[in-house]
Amino acid sequence: MKLSNRLMAIANFVPKNSIVADIGTDHGYIPVYLIENSISKKAIGTDISKGSLDKIIEYIKTLNLEDKIDTRLGDGLEVIKPFEIDTLIIAGMGGLLIRDILEKNKDVTETIVNFILQPMVAAKELREYLVENNFKILKEELVKEENKYYEIIFAKKGKSYIEKEIHYEISPLLIKEKHPFLKEFIQFRMMELNKILEEIKDVNTEKSKERYLEVMNKIKDYKGVLEEIEG
Ligand SMILES: C[S@@+](CC[C@H](N)C(=O)[O-])C[C@H]1O[C@@H](n2cnc3c(N)ncnc32)[C@H](O)[C@@H]1O
Repeated sequence: MKLSNRLMAIANFVPKNSIVADIGTDHGYIPVYLIENSISKKAIGTDISKGSLDKIIEYIKTLNLEDKIDTRLGDGLEVIKPFEIDTLIIAGMGGLLIRDILEKNKDVTETIVNFILQPMVAAKELREYLVENNFKILKEELVKEENKYYEIIFAKKGKSYIEKEIHYEISPLLIKEKHPFLKEFIQFRMMELNKILEEIKDVNTEKSKERYLEVMNKIKDYKGVLEEIEG
């Protein structure tokens, strides 16, 4: 099986011989790839949607992988036991939902070693949660697929230190390595912020004035990061 760039980048973070759960697996491509390529010894694919899970059960049956891939129907980590897995994947969901899943079943979260998280939005809020809750972000990846950018976070339990507020939004690890897509990712974000400025520039309420200043400051911070990368 060939994975998309995004799913491949997620799979690349999974350590060899891991026991992994892919929460919200949907199509089940990641567990299947990890087992077929002998990266994981065992995989659990879960989903809150019975429709999604039924598809995977069928798919796994056709591949004869039922002994290596478990499927479970349920909400987040509720279907995983403490110490059952060492590696957790939560991908393709909003950062706030990922945060809630990590927070809701702490008895399970506390026993996991590797966290591979790919928020579709709200990466900033997810990084804030991780830093405030004793996770150490060890590596990040930025993937471009069909003109969209995807941030992938690899974390373990530990202490993170964030030097500047903007680093919750733009990963300091990506800045340090001058990631090849980072400049265009920031420029894309700045373009979106400029669109917001354009929309609210003539609105004369206290709230919109505050928002205008906030967005201006963010653009300034983004420019600072661009200078850091280019400098
Ligand atoms: C957009 S799909 C992402 C599929 C896959 N992880 C990927 O990255 O391509 C999100 C999946 O998460 C599932 N999901 C949403 N909330 C969930 C939760 N609390 N627990 C488990 N699965 C959930 C949805 O049913 C859906 O199948």
